[in-house]
Amino acid sequence: MRLTAEQLAWSVHGTPLLADVNLTVEPGQTFGLVGPNGSGKTSLLRLLAGLNKPKAGRVSIDSQPLHTLKQRAIAQSVALVEQQADTTDRITVHQVVSLGRTPFLSALRPWSTEDDAIVAQVLADVDMVHMADRLWHTLSGGERQRVHIARALAQQPKILLLDEPTNHLDIRHQLSILELVRQLPITVVISLHDLNQAMECDRIGVMDGGRLIDSGLPQDILTPNRLQQTFGVYAHVIDDPVDGKQVMRFHSAI
Ligand SMILES: Nc1ncnc2c1ncn2[C@@H]1O[C@H](COP(=O)(O)OP(=O)(O)O)[C@@H](O)[C@H]1O
Ligand SMILES: [Mg+2]
Repeated sequence: MRLTAEQLAWSVHGTPLLADVNLTVEPGQTFGLVGPNGSGKTSLLRLLAGLNKPKAGRVSIDSQPLHTLKQRAIAQSVALVEQQADTTDRITVHQVVSLGRTPFLSALRPWSTEDDAIVAQVLADVDMVHMADRLWHTLSGGERQRVHIARALAQQPKILLLDEPTNHLDIRHQLSILELVRQLPITVVISLHDLNQAMECDRIGVMDGGRLIDSGLPQDILTPNRLQQTFGVYAHVIDDPVDGKQVMRFHSAI
C-alpha cells in the first residue's frame, strides 16, 4: 500500500508541533525517519497511524483518506509499534500478541487455527517462543519491545509504523529485527537514532522542529553538511575493511 501525507499539521492547545509535512512512501518501501529528540518523529508516526487527528492536511493509504475510515478498518491495514507502549498487568506474552488479531475477529469470524498459526509464526520471528507463557510485566524492556513488534506483525499490516523499535534491544536483536523488517514485502516507516542503521532504508526523511526538512535516498540526505546542521555533529565516512561498506563515525568537534 502507498502511504501519503499531504500538508500535514498538528498542534496541541494551540501550540503548533508539526507543520507542512508532505510525504509519500511507495508500496514495499522502507522509509527511515531521523531527527533530534523533540523534532516530531513520534507525533508524525501517530498521525500516520490515525491515532492523532491532523489539524490540517491529510493522511491517505492508497487513495483513501484515513479520516474516512473506521478505526477497525485502519487497523486491518496499518500497525504502529509505539516508543513507550504499555499493556495492562496479568496478561501473558501469547495473549498480548494475540491482541494483534483483534481487527479481524467478529461474531462471524471467530478465533481460528489460522490465528494460532500467525501468532506462533510472529513469536518465532521476534525470538519470543520460549517466553510465550511469561507474564508481560515480568519482561525486560527489550523483551517487551519484541512482544510489541510481534503484536504488530500479528496484525499482518500492509503498512507498518515503528517508533524507535531498536531502542531497548541488545545488538543481536537489533540486527535481527531490522533484517526482519527489511525483508517484509510491506510499506514501512521506521524512526531510528542509529544513522548507520538508517542508511539501510530505501529512503530517509529528516525531521527538525516539527517539519520534514529533507527526504530522499540515504546517501543524498545524510551528508556531512546535514549532520552538522541538524544534529550538530561532525561525521566522516570510513570503509569497513571486512565488507567494504561505508560507515559513518561521529564527533562532537573536528
Ligand atoms: N501531547 C503533547 N502535548 C504537548 N507537547 C507535545 C505532545 N506530544 C509531543 N509534544 C512536543 O512535541 C515535540 C515533538 O515531540 P515528538 O513527536 O515526541 O518528538 P520526537 O519523537 O522526534 O522526539 C516535542 O517538543 C514534544 O515535547
Ligand atoms: Mg519520539
